[in-house]
Amino acid sequence: MFLKNAWYVAAWSHEIKRELVPRWIAGEPLVLYRTEAGQAVALEDRCPHRRAALSLGRLVGDGVQCGYHGVTLDSSGVCVKIPGQERIPPTMKARSYRVVEKWQWVWVWLGEPEAADEALIPDFRWNSEPGWVYTGGTIDVKANYQLLTDNLLDLTHETYVHAKTIGNRAVIETPMSCEVQGNEVHLQRIMPNTPPPPLFAKVRGTDAPIDRWQVIRFQVPANISIDARAYPPGTQDMTHALRWFSINSITPVDATTSRYYWTITRCFAQDDTALTDLIHKAILATFMEDVVVIEAQQVRIQTDRADKQEVGIRADAGALGARRILERLIRQETEQAI
Ligand code: FES
Ligand SMILES: [Fe+2]
Repeated sequence: MFLKNAWYVAAWSHEIKRELVPRWIAGEPLVLYRTEAGQAVALEDRCPHRRAALSLGRLVGDGVQCGYHGVTLDSSGVCVKIPGQERIPPTMKARSYRVVEKWQWVWVWLGEPEAADEALIPDFRWNSEPGWVYTGGTIDVKANYQLLTDNLLDLTHETYVHAKTIGNRAVIETPMSCEVQGNEVHLQRIMPNTPPPPLFAKVRGTDAPIDRWQVIRFQVPANISIDARAYPPGTQDMTHALRWFSINSITPVDATTSRYYWTITRCFAQDDTALTDLIHKAILATFMEDVVVIEAQQVRIQTDRADKQEVGIRADAGALGARRILERLIRQETEQAI
């Protein structure tokens, strides 16, 4: 059900310190921490002795001591101490995961370690790019992660769900182009000479018409960047533009719960902390509007009779494209494993 040969965001870099942090990712329990030298570590959160959660134990140097009977593992998951016993069986170890810190986040590779390829981490450079400033957060959602991907790949919902911030009629009245390229989906909607949605008018300090752009890129398993722009009509004049990236990575916790990592990162008025605060609050409120819709979908998905069907519409193209890519990759993985 989940793609294993993939990078998942396990945490913000600033969340991982000299303490044990438990995280479930795609149905697997992990424990994260930092070594004394500052290296982020991810181990299976499961003691090889009697399956106690290692995260309930304690850090001992760069390793973890299980809080139940004191078995101690090093940062690669290899057992280095069993109380009252000299011999250490070679199977006394916990799985360790490849970890890379990039774009403010801690990424964990769930698949075969030899297949871990850093180049597969999505290009979210805008979270760390000089000249750009980000604000963001994490939202726990009681829904399957793909419902969040669907949501971000069909922005017609902005008109209905986000009328107070980023939605207006222009979004539904302008067709969106959709292209599947390899394992990515690219979507684009350019809305020329259109009234700004309420949040854009507030941020730019004017409700004069704009050329509004939405350029969306999906990368597996659930990474979506949205390049959002508002220019004075007929120009690409950055001095009066609004431009930000909405960067989104959704980590499945299990089949019915997810952790949604998000940022908005902008390249104008970077020092204006009041503006950062305004954008943060407005975008968080916007995403919480999505969460209400999505959690209600999840309840129906779980309680519906098995024969209940959904009916597709044209606007589903991006979401369907992403689902097909993921399905194909998961099927390939399963076939290889047999
Ligand atoms: S369960 Fe961890 S030492 Fe026994
Ligand atoms: Fe939304």
